[in-house]
Amino acid sequence: MIQAAKEFLTTYCFELQKNEQYYSERWTEINDEIARTGTYTLTLEELEYGAKLAWRNSNKCIGRLFWQTMTVHDYRSLHDVQDIRDALIHHIIFATNQGKIKPTLSVFHPSVRIWNHQLLRYAGYEKDGEVIGDSDSIAFTKICEELGWVGAGTRFDILPLVIQIGDEKPEWFEIPKEHVLEVAISHPEKPEFEHLHLKWYAVPIISSMKLEIGGIEFPAAPFNGWYMGTEIGARNLADVDRYNQLPQVAELYQLNQKSASSLWKDRALVELNLAVLHSFKEQGVSIVDHHTAAVQFKQFEQQEQKNGREVTGMWSWLIPPMSPAATHVFHKPYSNETKSPNFFYQKNPY
Ligand code: ARG
Repeated sequence: MIQAAKEFLTTYCFELQKNEQYYSERWTEINDEIARTGTYTLTLEELEYGAKLAWRNSNKCIGRLFWQTMTVHDYRSLHDVQDIRDALIHHIIFATNQGKIKPTLSVFHPSVRIWNHQLLRYAGYEKDGEVIGDSDSIAFTKICEELGWVGAGTRFDILPLVIQIGDEKPEWFEIPKEHVLEVAISHPEKPEFEHLHLKWYAVPIISSMKLEIGGIEFPAAPFNGWYMGTEIGARNLADVDRYNQLPQVAELYQLNQKSASSLWKDRALVELNLAVLHSFKEQGVSIVDHHTAAVQFKQFEQQEQKNGREVTGMWSWLIPPMSPAATHVFHKPYSNETKSPNFFYQKNPY
């Protein structure tokens, strides 16, 4: 803890140009608090900057150019489950911002745990070998049902928020529909696309990862940016074990699905991804295509280099799942060293 605290304070003071006196006074303060209580309290400014650094250090993220634009909500003082629910709903509303998505992070007291993988996600139901909805949500959907939640049973049921404080029983809360912005998927040239009745929610808000800053861990610190199109069009809606929509898209274009070398999957992928980008844009919801995201990532790399910092990255995650070799990321190596502050996976609470 002491070592991690010192490293963070050093970085913080260096990057924000705090003077020597500030550093030594704050370091004494932190040491005293750790000696007295075994831990210490980050100031709001430390928390804000630490959260931004955690984003800057996220090796899997291609969207890091915008790390300084994140808004941080400090909810560390909340201990009432209703208040925490309200804060999460506020995060959804604030981050959605009527489509002009704002990168946002909300920090809660370390005793709080959010059971959802993302604040907004679709349920998945398994009925005799068949899946309705998002198969990635099957286990969590069962938990919600055990807690008393009943879904409508469609392919796109938004799951409830499940919040736990300490060892108490988790509580679930339905998210009011009016706060959930969704984008219906249509194609700029193929009206029949709408017959697939596909949609996706606007804001991906990861809520299952632990935020670590200066040796302090926050198991509940949901954060969001905006989507890169391929996350939806080349993965969520396309993966065989997710919504598996490539055959339906290929059908619309009457592609030859009997022959792999007809490249029906590739052609369907292009149309589906075009539709996702088109739909978000048309409905005024922030999204980025993978080519633009890669160019932005290159700017981030240059910016970091200018500031004398090495960019770390996980290549296998940074390359987009479509046309990866058409981006610069494909053609260079990245060191996957883990820096602090950062976000970490943690064990599912269920
Ligand atoms: N890939 C995840 C999904 O499709 C979201 C991960 C975070 N993505 C982001 N653009 N911030 O739901």
